[in-house]
Amino acid sequence: MASELILGIETSCDETSAAVVRGGREVLSNVVASQLVHSDYGGVVPELASREHLRAIVPVLREAMQRARVSYADLDAIAVTEGPGLAGALLVGITFAKAFAFGLNKPLIAVNHLEGHIHAVLMDATNPGAPGLASETWEARSPLLALVVSGGHTHLYLATRVPDLTWHYRNVGKTLDDAAGEAYDKVAKLLGLPWPGGPWMDALAAHGDPGAVPFRFAQIKKKATGNTAAKLSRENLDHADKTRFDLSFSGIKTAVRRYVELNAMQPSIAARSAALRSAGLHRAKPSEALALVLPHFDPQTLNLIASFQASVTSYLTRTAFAAAEHFGAKGLIVSGGVAANTELRRRISVEAAQRGLAVAFPSIALSTDNAAMIAAAAWPKFLARDFAPDTLEPTPQLRLG
Ligand code: KG4
Ligand code: ZN
Repeated sequence: MASELILGIETSCDETSAAVVRGGREVLSNVVASQLVHSDYGGVVPELASREHLRAIVPVLREAMQRARVSYADLDAIAVTEGPGLAGALLVGITFAKAFAFGLNKPLIAVNHLEGHIHAVLMDATNPGAPGLASETWEARSPLLALVVSGGHTHLYLATRVPDLTWHYRNVGKTLDDAAGEAYDKVAKLLGLPWPGGPWMDALAAHGDPGAVPFRFAQIKKKATGNTAAKLSRENLDHADKTRFDLSFSGIKTAVRRYVELNAMQPSIAARSAALRSAGLHRAKPSEALALVLPHFDPQTLNLIASFQASVTSYLTRTAFAAAEHFGAKGLIVSGGVAANTELRRRISVEAAQRGLAVAFPSIALSTDNAAMIAAAAWPKFLARDFAPDTLEPTPQLRLG
């Protein structure tokens, strides 16, 4: 095992994280400080996120170094998230990483956050979801279909291993409106759940009937307009349709809102929201407070939550496997905050086992934003001496593939 140490720094949204990873795989430390302040507003407030990163970055970094039991001189490179993300939040991590790399005279590596999510899985090569595959490396399974599904992104990538040990990514599908995690969070907010709502929806769904409310996802149709229509022949359009696996989550959000209105659920939602807040539960996590929060929910709301979860996870599963089949992927990897979802993991694992396709998820800790995945994604760049200039700046809209 290679012994070079990379310090990763991640500040793209509302988690301040620093990690030390050896040889691109062995996590020596991975400290994540989640910003609770946003719970009071029901969503991430960008200015507050930047301020909280500024507060947290030094203590988080010190703790990561202490837990890893290494000194600054032992580090071989500093990796930082370049984008995508919130401009001010990214700026804190990048400015800090640049100053740190300069002061220590170590190379700086810029990492795409989305590639980080993919490497969260690749790093954990011994963690495949399907049994009997633990001894095989994911590198041997190229091309892979990667589903990156989080609060900011819902993307499908075809990841191909290229000879210089790095990966080539082709974006083969993405959400045309909300990200899946965003839909979870918005529906959760609509129903008066604590923020972020995704983990709460997941925990509460287990107490409802997933078949109670039948939600449907319409197939995405590509519309050609103006010049585009003139340029694209019908044949080309058909081809484009068949090779894209785009998704949409705004419809189900509207359907939930309509259901709430039709069933006059607003008064009970407002009462629940106020009760949770006055009990201080609006900042709680399901792992700590499910038993206290659950009694605030009636069966109708629990059924609605369970139906939403069943519908979204089935849609993601269907689309991911259709893309994997279309591109002849030899494995499927699922990453990002929503990859922590129990129902999504269950459905994808069952389907993969039926199809005999290898599948892998990161551990729950590596599913949501963290710096270990940034240090892991930096490893091939470190080997290729692909270092960032000292003029590195945030790229909030950075794309992958
Ligand atoms: O990857 P991440 O930490 O940040 C982004 O890059 O967006 O993902 C956070 C998102 C949030 O929308 C959160 O509600 C969602 O992931 N999430 C979940 C679960 N855990 C986190 N959604 C559904 N089920 C979960 N168990
Ligand atoms: Zn993320």
